[in-house]
Amino acid sequence: MKSSRRSFLKTGLALPVVLKTAPALAVTSSVSESPDSKDSSFDPWVEIHKENLRHNVQEISRRVAARPILAVIKNNGYGMGVTNIASLLEPQPEIFGFAVVKFHEAMSLRDAGLRKPVLLLGPFDEKNLEDAVARNIMPMIYTPLGPALDKIATRMQKPIPLHLCIDTGIGRVGVPYHQAAPLVRDLAARKSVQVQGAMMTFTEDPEFDKEQLRRFTETCAAFEKEGIALGKKHAASSFSLFQHPDSFLDMVRPGMAIYGIYSENQFRGSGIMDLRPAISLKARVIYAKKLRKGDGAGYNRAYLAKDDVWVATLPVGHADGWPRVAAKGAKVKINGELFPVIASVSASHCIVEVGSEEKIKIGDLATFFDGQPGSRPEDVSESCGASVYDLTMHLNPLLPRRIL
Ligand SMILES: Cc1ncc(COP(=O)(O)O)c(C=O)c1O
Repeated sequence: MKSSRRSFLKTGLALPVVLKTAPALAVTSSVSESPDSKDSSFDPWVEIHKENLRHNVQEISRRVAARPILAVIKNNGYGMGVTNIASLLEPQPEIFGFAVVKFHEAMSLRDAGLRKPVLLLGPFDEKNLEDAVARNIMPMIYTPLGPALDKIATRMQKPIPLHLCIDTGIGRVGVPYHQAAPLVRDLAARKSVQVQGAMMTFTEDPEFDKEQLRRFTETCAAFEKEGIALGKKHAASSFSLFQHPDSFLDMVRPGMAIYGIYSENQFRGSGIMDLRPAISLKARVIYAKKLRKGDGAGYNRAYLAKDDVWVATLPVGHADGWPRVAAKGAKVKINGELFPVIASVSASHCIVEVGSEEKIKIGDLATFFDGQPGSRPEDVSESCGASVYDLTMHLNPLLPRRIL
């Protein structure tokens, strides 16, 4: 099944609410959790693979000729926990800093003691802005906030570092490039402001991206000609790491590639970067039984057994982040073998078809995705059409995260 990020964005992107970043748990090889865990040993958990993260950052750095990397860790660190991911990435010299969308995520990075630069891509009010500046969090600016920045800088007795966001055609946030001059000149002229960066976002339409890059570089060059320093210019997300080497500019801004997942299936065999998934979703089988020919499974009897067949029930559903479309072709790995998801994915369960033999028992380890060929997030995406972004970012923030 062909899947791309863009086709999923068309259908809307629901983001999970991060209530609390689940703590990293010590890894145990047995079924049982750490003594403090309130999770059943069957409940799903998310694994984060440190070594793969390190490898991916080095691959990106090689690809971009050692330009600094602004790591996008929004949406609960792409499902891995925003402070987990930042703590693992911070020691890597290739990482310049972090970008998040939600104000509370930016604050949680400082609360957790992270020290590298943090860029807040999302919205804030004046009080948020003051709190952010006090915690050394840089705002991304594209509206006439000069007077507010002056007030805050006066109170803080220091200029405010910020990045300018210029819209070159995505139509989302950012001042339109053809109307940017008054805002940029106004901000740059204020003593309260230190422009440390200028950024844009591609639509990831390969042809239009070229036009967007032209608009951005020409706009920036015109300001620089006037003597306005823009700091680091950045635009490239994971897509551009593969598609547009000329967009690497002064710094790159990937998310998904850091987590070892090809954002588009077409990039997998390209040989441009060797990405290794740094995230797995696992649980344990809670029940196995034999259905008789004609028996149903799932709500609305979405599945009807054509013959006697063994099925296994897994405690993972769409409320955990396992997408409903998984029932349209995804497979789950149990004891090294892949079994198709059948019937429908309900809030807390899904069912796999095991076959005519009783191969699976309660407590067996079930892997929904991991870093192995055949069960990577991209394989799930290919098989059922779930976006890799949904597979990671929609993982319930309350699932335990184990750092391996
Ligand atoms: C402004 C911005 N930059 C960079 C990224 C990183 O994108 P990706 O995860 O595709 O690398 C995102 C994520 O969607 C974004 O919103």
